[in-house]
Amino acid sequence: MKFGTKAIHAGLEHDPSTGAVMTPIYQTSTYAQASPGDHKGYEYSRTQNPTRAALERNLAALENGKFGLAFGSGLAAIDSVIKLLEPGDEVVATNDLYGGTYRIFIKVFEPLGIHFRFVDMTDLDEVRKAITERTKLIWAETPTNPTLKIIDISSLAVLATEAGCLLGVDNTFATPYLQQPLKLGADIVMHSVTKYLGGHSDVVMGALVVNDEALAEKLYFLQNSCGAVCGPMDAFLVLRGIKTLHLRMEAHCINAMQIANFLREHPAVDQIYWPGFEDHANHEVAVEQMKDFGGMVSFSLKGDRLEDAMKVCSGTEIFTLAESLGGVESLIGHPASMTHAAIPAEERRKTGVVDSLIRLSVGVEDIDDLLEDLEQALNQVQS
Ligand SMILES: Cc1ncc(COP(=O)(O)O)c(C=O)c1O
Repeated sequence: MKFGTKAIHAGLEHDPSTGAVMTPIYQTSTYAQASPGDHKGYEYSRTQNPTRAALERNLAALENGKFGLAFGSGLAAIDSVIKLLEPGDEVVATNDLYGGTYRIFIKVFEPLGIHFRFVDMTDLDEVRKAITERTKLIWAETPTNPTLKIIDISSLAVLATEAGCLLGVDNTFATPYLQQPLKLGADIVMHSVTKYLGGHSDVVMGALVVNDEALAEKLYFLQNSCGAVCGPMDAFLVLRGIKTLHLRMEAHCINAMQIANFLREHPAVDQIYWPGFEDHANHEVAVEQMKDFGGMVSFSLKGDRLEDAMKVCSGTEIFTLAESLGGVESLIGHPASMTHAAIPAEERRKTGVVDSLIRLSVGVEDIDDLLEDLEQALNQVQS
Protein backbone atom coordinates (compact mmCIF):
# COMPACT_ATOMS: atom_id res chain seq x y z
CA MET A 1 0.00 0.00 0.00
CA LYS A 2 1.07 3.60 -0.66
CA PHE A 3 1.16 6.06 2.26
CA GLY A 4 -2.29 7.66 1.81
CA THR A 5 -3.94 4.24 1.60
CA LYS A 6 -2.07 3.02 4.66
CA ALA A 7 -3.10 6.13 6.63
CA ILE A 8 -6.74 5.26 6.00
CA HIS A 9 -6.69 1.45 6.09
CA ALA A 10 -3.52 -0.11 7.53
CA GLY A 11 -4.05 -2.34 10.55
CA LEU A 12 -7.79 -1.73 10.57
CA GLU A 13 -10.69 -4.07 9.93
CA HIS A 14 -14.43 -3.60 9.99
CA ASP A 15 -15.71 -4.50 13.44
CA PRO A 16 -16.23 -8.28 13.39
CA SER A 17 -19.34 -8.20 15.57
CA THR A 18 -21.31 -5.42 13.80
CA GLY A 19 -19.50 -4.52 10.58
CA ALA A 20 -18.89 -0.97 11.88
CA VAL A 21 -16.56 0.68 9.36
CA MET A 22 -14.89 2.88 11.97
CA THR A 23 -12.99 1.17 14.78
CA PRO A 24 -15.30 1.28 17.83
CA ILE A 25 -14.21 2.93 21.08
CA TYR A 26 -13.86 -0.11 23.35
CA GLN A 27 -14.46 1.86 26.53
CA THR A 28 -13.90 -1.06 28.88
CA SER A 29 -11.29 -1.87 31.48
CA THR A 30 -11.84 -5.63 31.46
CA TYR A 31 -13.11 -8.57 29.35
CA ALA A 32 -15.25 -11.61 30.21
CA GLN A 33 -13.47 -14.96 30.44
CA ALA A 34 -15.38 -18.27 29.88
CA SER A 35 -13.12 -20.01 32.39
CA PRO A 36 -9.88 -18.71 33.96
CA GLY A 37 -7.48 -17.90 31.10
CA ASP A 38 -10.07 -18.70 28.41
CA HIS A 39 -10.57 -15.31 26.73
CA LYS A 40 -10.59 -13.68 23.28
CA GLY A 41 -7.08 -12.21 23.49
CA TYR A 42 -8.00 -9.38 25.83
CA GLU A 43 -7.85 -9.57 29.64
CA TYR A 44 -7.35 -6.07 31.02
CA SER A 45 -7.09 -2.73 29.19
CA ARG A 46 -3.72 -1.65 30.59
CA THR A 47 -2.27 -4.69 28.84
CA GLN A 48 -4.40 -4.69 25.67
CA ASN A 49 -7.39 -2.79 24.33
CA PRO A 50 -8.88 -3.34 20.84
CA THR A 51 -9.08 0.38 19.92
CA ARG A 52 -5.49 0.95 21.07
CA ALA A 53 -4.36 -2.23 19.29
CA ALA A 54 -5.86 -0.98 16.00
CA LEU A 55 -3.99 2.31 16.39
CA GLU A 56 -0.75 0.51 17.28
CA ARG A 57 -1.00 -1.62 14.11
CA ASN A 58 -1.71 1.50 12.04
CA LEU A 59 1.25 3.42 13.53
CA ALA A 60 3.58 0.48 12.89
CA ALA A 61 2.47 0.32 9.24
CA LEU A 62 2.98 4.06 8.71
CA GLU A 63 6.54 3.88 10.04
CA ASN A 64 7.32 0.70 8.08
CA GLY A 65 7.80 -1.14 11.36
CA LYS A 66 6.44 -4.38 12.75
CA PHE A 67 5.45 -3.37 16.28
CA GLY A 68 3.67 -0.22 17.49
CA LEU A 69 3.04 0.92 21.06
CA ALA A 70 0.80 3.81 22.14
CA PHE A 71 1.38 5.67 25.42
CA GLY A 72 -0.36 8.34 27.47
CA SER A 73 2.06 11.03 26.19
CA GLY A 74 5.24 11.47 24.16
CA LEU A 75 7.22 11.71 27.37
CA ALA A 76 5.71 8.44 28.62
CA ALA A 77 7.01 6.82 25.43
CA ILE A 78 10.50 8.27 26.02
CA ASP A 79 10.31 7.14 29.66
CA SER A 80 9.88 3.54 28.50
CA VAL A 81 12.84 3.80 26.12
CA ILE A 82 15.20 5.03 28.84
CA LYS A 83 13.95 2.29 31.19
CA LEU A 84 15.53 -0.21 28.76
CA LEU A 85 18.85 1.02 30.23
CA GLU A 86 20.66 0.32 33.49
CA PRO A 87 22.57 2.52 35.96
CA GLY A 88 26.01 3.26 34.51
CA ASP A 89 24.75 3.25 30.93
CA GLU A 90 25.24 6.32 28.78
CA VAL A 91 23.11 8.09 26.19
CA VAL A 92 24.38 10.45 23.50
CA ALA A 93 21.59 12.90 22.66
CA THR A 94 20.92 15.87 20.39
CA ASN A 95 21.80 19.16 22.13
CA ASP A 96 18.81 20.91 20.56
CA LEU A 97 16.10 18.77 22.16
CA TYR A 98 12.52 19.49 23.17
CA GLY A 99 12.80 20.94 26.70
CA GLY A 100 10.65 18.23 28.30
CA THR A 101 12.89 15.51 26.87
CA TYR A 102 15.92 17.30 28.29
CA ARG A 103 14.12 17.55 31.64
CA ILE A 104 13.24 13.85 31.93
CA PHE A 105 16.81 12.93 30.97
CA ILE A 106 18.52 15.27 33.43
CA LYS A 107 16.05 15.56 36.31
CA VAL A 108 14.59 12.04 36.35
CA PHE A 109 17.09 9.58 34.87
CA GLU A 110 20.47 11.20 35.60
CA PRO A 111 19.87 10.87 39.38
CA LEU A 112 19.05 7.19 38.78
CA GLY A 113 22.54 6.65 37.35
CA ILE A 114 22.07 7.05 33.60
CA HIS A 115 24.46 9.55 32.07
CA PHE A 116 23.57 11.88 29.16
CA ARG A 117 25.93 13.67 26.81
CA PHE A 118 24.45 16.37 24.57
CA VAL A 119 26.13 17.10 21.27
CA ASP A 120 25.52 18.93 18.02
CA MET A 121 24.56 15.93 15.90
CA THR A 122 24.94 17.80 12.63
CA ASP A 123 28.67 17.25 13.33
CA LEU A 124 29.18 13.49 13.23
CA ASP A 125 32.68 13.82 14.72
CA GLU A 126 31.08 15.27 17.84
CA VAL A 127 28.83 12.21 18.06
CA ARG A 128 31.77 9.85 17.49
CA LYS A 129 33.78 11.59 20.24
CA ALA A 130 30.90 11.35 22.73
CA ILE A 131 30.43 7.59 22.28
CA THR A 132 32.12 5.42 24.92
CA GLU A 133 31.96 1.70 25.64
CA ARG A 134 29.12 2.48 28.03
CA THR A 135 26.96 4.14 25.38
CA LYS A 136 23.79 2.09 24.95
CA LEU A 137 21.61 4.57 23.11
CA ILE A 138 21.93 7.41 20.61
CA TRP A 139 18.87 9.67 20.82
CA ALA A 140 18.21 12.07 17.95
CA GLU A 141 15.50 14.59 17.22
CA THR A 142 15.34 15.77 13.59
CA PRO A 143 14.33 18.34 12.49
CA THR A 144 15.47 19.74 15.82
CA ASN A 145 13.26 21.87 17.97
CA PRO A 146 13.16 24.87 17.57
CA THR A 147 16.09 25.69 15.27
CA LEU A 148 15.21 23.04 12.66
CA LYS A 149 18.65 21.56 12.13
CA ILE A 150 18.60 18.33 10.16
CA ILE A 151 20.54 15.34 11.44
CA ASP A 152 21.71 12.63 9.06
CA ILE A 153 19.89 9.52 10.35
CA SER A 154 21.66 7.00 8.06
CA SER A 155 25.09 8.19 9.25
CA LEU A 156 23.99 7.99 12.89
CA ALA A 157 22.77 4.44 12.23
CA VAL A 158 26.25 3.51 11.02
CA LEU A 159 27.79 4.97 14.20
CA ALA A 160 25.24 3.14 16.37
CA THR A 161 26.00 -0.18 14.66
CA GLU A 162 29.75 0.35 15.12
CA ALA A 163 29.18 1.16 18.79
CA GLY A 164 26.77 -1.76 19.27
CA CYS A 165 24.09 0.54 20.68
CA LEU A 166 20.50 1.43 19.79
CA LEU A 167 19.51 4.44 17.71
CA GLY A 168 16.23 6.13 18.70
CA VAL A 169 14.73 8.95 16.62
CA ASP A 170 12.04 11.38 17.76
CA ASN A 171 10.09 11.74 14.50
CA THR A 172 7.48 14.16 15.88
CA PHE A 173 8.35 17.13 13.66
CA ALA A 174 8.72 15.20 10.40
CA THR A 175 5.96 12.56 10.79
CA PRO A 176 6.20 9.27 8.88
CA TYR A 177 4.76 11.06 5.83
CA LEU A 178 7.98 13.05 5.44
CA GLN A 179 10.60 10.77 6.99
CA GLN A 180 10.81 7.11 7.99
CA PRO A 181 13.74 6.57 10.37
CA LEU A 182 13.46 2.76 10.54
CA LYS A 183 14.13 2.60 6.79
CA LEU A 184 17.23 4.75 7.38
CA GLY A 185 18.58 2.32 9.99
CA ALA A 186 17.10 3.51 13.30
CA ASP A 187 16.00 0.90 15.87
CA ILE A 188 13.27 2.91 17.60
CA VAL A 189 10.99 5.65 16.28
CA MET A 190 9.21 7.82 18.81
CA HIS A 191 6.33 10.28 18.40
CA SER A 192 4.60 12.89 20.40
CA VAL A 193 1.32 11.81 18.77
CA THR A 194 -0.12 14.94 20.39
CA LYS A 195 1.28 16.85 17.41
CA TYR A 196 0.84 16.04 13.68
CA LEU A 197 -0.38 12.46 14.04
CA GLY A 198 -3.34 13.54 16.16
CA GLY A 199 -3.38 16.74 14.14
CA HIS A 200 -6.28 18.54 15.81
CA SER A 201 -4.85 19.67 19.18
CA ASP A 202 -7.35 17.56 21.10
CA VAL A 203 -5.28 14.61 22.40
CA VAL A 204 -2.06 14.08 24.38
CA MET A 205 -0.40 10.81 23.35
CA GLY A 206 2.93 9.17 22.55
CA ALA A 207 4.08 6.23 20.46
CA LEU A 208 7.01 3.96 19.70
CA VAL A 209 7.54 1.79 16.64
CA VAL A 210 10.24 -0.89 16.30
CA ASN A 211 11.09 -3.80 14.01
CA ASP A 212 13.03 -6.08 16.31
CA GLU A 213 10.84 -8.59 18.13
CA ALA A 214 13.03 -8.93 21.24
CA LEU A 215 13.15 -5.12 21.62
CA ALA A 216 9.38 -4.94 21.10
CA GLU A 217 8.85 -7.56 23.85
CA LYS A 218 10.92 -5.48 26.31
CA LEU A 219 8.96 -2.34 25.43
CA TYR A 220 5.55 -4.08 25.69
CA PHE A 221 6.68 -5.36 29.09
CA LEU A 222 7.53 -1.80 30.21
CA GLN A 223 4.32 -0.38 28.71
CA ASN A 224 2.26 -2.85 30.72
CA SER A 225 4.41 -2.81 33.86
CA CYS A 226 4.70 0.96 34.18
CA GLY A 227 1.17 1.50 32.85
CA ALA A 228 1.43 4.83 31.00
CA VAL A 229 -1.07 3.77 28.33
CA CYS A 230 -3.54 5.92 26.41
CA GLY A 231 -7.30 5.49 26.71
CA PRO A 232 -9.57 4.08 23.98
CA MET A 233 -11.29 7.41 23.25
CA ASP A 234 -7.93 9.04 22.57
CA ALA A 235 -6.88 6.09 20.39
CA PHE A 236 -10.08 6.57 18.36
CA LEU A 237 -9.44 10.31 17.92
CA VAL A 238 -5.91 9.67 16.69
CA LEU A 239 -7.08 6.95 14.28
CA ARG A 240 -9.45 9.54 12.86
CA GLY A 241 -6.74 12.22 12.73
CA ILE A 242 -4.28 9.94 10.92
CA LYS A 243 -6.74 9.36 8.07
CA THR A 244 -5.88 12.85 6.77
CA LEU A 245 -2.20 12.93 7.77
CA HIS A 246 -0.92 12.91 4.18
CA LEU A 247 -3.34 15.67 3.11
CA ARG A 248 -2.60 17.82 6.13
CA MET A 249 1.18 17.45 5.82
CA GLU A 250 1.12 18.56 2.20
CA ALA A 251 -0.87 21.66 3.13
CA HIS A 252 1.38 22.39 6.16
CA CYS A 253 4.51 22.15 3.98
CA ILE A 254 3.16 24.49 1.27
CA ASN A 255 2.03 27.12 3.78
CA ALA A 256 5.32 26.91 5.73
CA MET A 257 7.32 27.43 2.54
CA GLN A 258 5.36 30.58 1.70
CA ILE A 259 5.76 31.93 5.22
CA ALA A 260 9.50 31.20 5.27
CA ASN A 261 9.89 33.12 1.99
CA PHE A 262 7.84 36.03 3.34
CA LEU A 263 9.85 36.24 6.58
CA ARG A 264 13.13 36.14 4.70
CA GLU A 265 12.21 39.42 3.01
CA HIS A 266 10.87 41.15 6.14
CA PRO A 267 13.13 43.95 7.51
CA ALA A 268 12.40 43.11 11.20
CA VAL A 269 13.55 39.50 10.84
CA ASP A 270 17.14 38.46 11.56
CA GLN A 271 17.83 34.69 11.35
CA ILE A 272 15.30 32.41 9.75
CA TYR A 273 15.29 28.66 10.26
CA TRP A 274 13.60 26.52 7.61
CA PRO A 275 15.37 23.50 6.06
CA GLY A 276 13.91 24.17 2.61
CA PHE A 277 16.28 27.09 1.95
CA GLU A 278 19.17 26.03 -0.25
CA ASP A 279 21.57 27.91 2.02
CA HIS A 280 20.28 26.16 5.18
CA ALA A 281 23.35 24.39 6.60
CA ASN A 282 21.72 20.93 6.37
CA HIS A 283 19.56 21.42 3.28
CA GLU A 284 21.24 18.55 1.37
CA VAL A 285 20.55 16.09 4.20
CA ALA A 286 16.94 17.27 4.34
CA VAL A 287 16.54 16.69 0.60
CA GLU A 288 18.07 13.23 0.98
CA GLN A 289 16.04 11.93 3.91
CA MET A 290 12.79 13.93 3.87
CA LYS A 291 9.99 14.10 1.32
CA ASP A 292 9.38 17.81 2.05
CA PHE A 293 10.49 20.36 4.66
CA GLY A 294 7.67 20.27 7.20
CA GLY A 295 5.32 22.79 8.74
CA MET A 296 7.61 24.46 11.29
CA VAL A 297 9.42 27.78 10.81
CA SER A 298 11.47 29.64 13.43
CA PHE A 299 12.98 33.11 13.27
CA SER A 300 14.71 35.70 15.42
CA LEU A 301 14.32 39.47 15.34
CA LYS A 302 16.89 42.12 14.52
CA GLY A 303 18.36 43.50 17.76
CA ASP A 304 17.37 40.30 19.66
CA ARG A 305 15.10 42.14 22.12
CA LEU A 306 12.85 40.05 24.35
CA GLU A 307 10.20 42.79 24.40
CA ASP A 308 9.97 42.73 20.60
CA ALA A 309 9.43 38.96 20.58
CA MET A 310 6.72 39.40 23.21
CA LYS A 311 5.01 42.05 21.06
CA VAL A 312 4.96 39.78 18.01
CA CYS A 313 3.78 36.73 19.97
CA SER A 314 0.97 38.71 21.59
CA GLY A 315 0.16 40.66 18.42
CA THR A 316 -1.05 37.90 16.08
CA GLU A 317 -4.74 37.22 15.68
CA ILE A 318 -4.93 34.02 13.65
CA PHE A 319 -1.74 32.49 15.02
CA THR A 320 -2.64 31.53 18.58
CA LEU A 321 0.04 32.01 21.25
CA ALA A 322 0.24 28.53 22.74
CA GLU A 323 2.52 25.59 23.51
CA SER A 324 2.45 22.59 21.18
CA LEU A 325 2.43 22.26 17.39
CA GLY A 326 1.19 20.12 14.55
CA GLY A 327 -2.53 20.93 14.65
CA VAL A 328 -4.55 22.25 11.72
CA GLU A 329 -4.56 25.70 13.35
CA SER A 330 -1.49 27.93 13.32
CA LEU A 331 0.32 28.50 16.60
CA ILE A 332 3.05 30.93 17.61
CA GLY A 333 5.42 30.32 20.49
CA HIS A 334 8.37 31.82 22.32
CA PRO A 335 10.72 28.88 23.01
CA ALA A 336 12.95 30.63 25.59
CA SER A 337 10.03 31.23 27.96
CA MET A 338 7.70 28.39 26.89
CA THR A 339 8.77 25.02 25.41
CA HIS A 340 12.46 25.43 26.30
CA ALA A 341 12.16 27.14 29.68
CA ALA A 342 13.36 23.92 31.35
CA ILE A 343 16.79 24.33 29.68
CA PRO A 344 19.28 26.64 31.46
CA ALA A 345 19.62 30.02 29.65
CA GLU A 346 23.30 29.48 28.82
CA GLU A 347 22.66 26.03 27.31
CA ARG A 348 19.73 27.22 25.23
CA ARG A 349 21.51 30.28 23.84
CA LYS A 350 24.35 28.02 22.65
CA THR A 351 21.87 26.19 20.44
CA GLY A 352 20.38 29.37 18.95
CA VAL A 353 17.39 29.67 21.31
CA VAL A 354 18.00 33.39 21.81
CA ASP A 355 15.60 35.75 23.57
CA SER A 356 13.90 36.95 20.37
CA LEU A 357 13.48 33.49 18.81
CA ILE A 358 9.90 32.83 17.72
CA ARG A 359 8.58 29.45 16.58
CA LEU A 360 5.65 29.02 14.22
CA SER A 361 3.62 25.87 13.79
CA VAL A 362 2.11 26.76 10.45
CA GLY A 363 -1.43 25.45 10.12
CA VAL A 364 -3.56 24.76 7.08
CA GLU A 365 -5.61 27.98 7.04
CA ASP A 366 -5.73 30.20 3.94
CA ILE A 367 -2.19 31.42 3.34
CA ASP A 368 -3.23 35.03 2.57
CA ASP A 369 -4.76 35.36 6.04
CA LEU A 370 -1.66 33.89 7.69
CA LEU A 371 0.70 36.24 5.83
CA GLU A 372 -1.42 39.28 6.60
CA ASP A 373 -1.53 38.33 10.28
CA LEU A 374 2.26 37.97 10.54
CA GLU A 375 2.81 41.21 8.66
CA GLN A 376 0.63 43.25 11.02
CA ALA A 377 2.29 41.65 14.10
CA LEU A 378 5.81 42.30 12.77
CA ASN A 379 4.90 45.89 11.89
CA GLN A 380 4.15 46.52 15.57
CA VAL A 381 7.86 45.92 16.29
CA GLN A 382 9.02 48.31 13.63
CA SER A 383 6.78 51.17 14.67
C1 LIG B 1 9.77 16.90 19.57
C2 LIG B 1 8.96 16.54 20.78
N1 LIG B 1 9.22 15.37 21.41
C3 LIG B 1 8.52 15.01 22.52
C4 LIG B 1 7.54 15.81 23.05
C5 LIG B 1 6.79 15.37 24.28
O1 LIG B 1 5.53 14.88 23.93
P1 LIG B 1 4.21 15.02 24.85
O2 LIG B 1 3.98 16.46 25.08
O3 LIG B 1 3.16 14.33 24.02
O4 LIG B 1 4.52 14.28 26.12
C6 LIG B 1 7.24 17.02 22.43
C7 LIG B 1 6.20 17.91 22.99
O5 LIG B 1 6.12 19.07 22.66
C8 LIG B 1 7.97 17.39 21.26
O6 LIG B 1 7.73 18.56 20.63
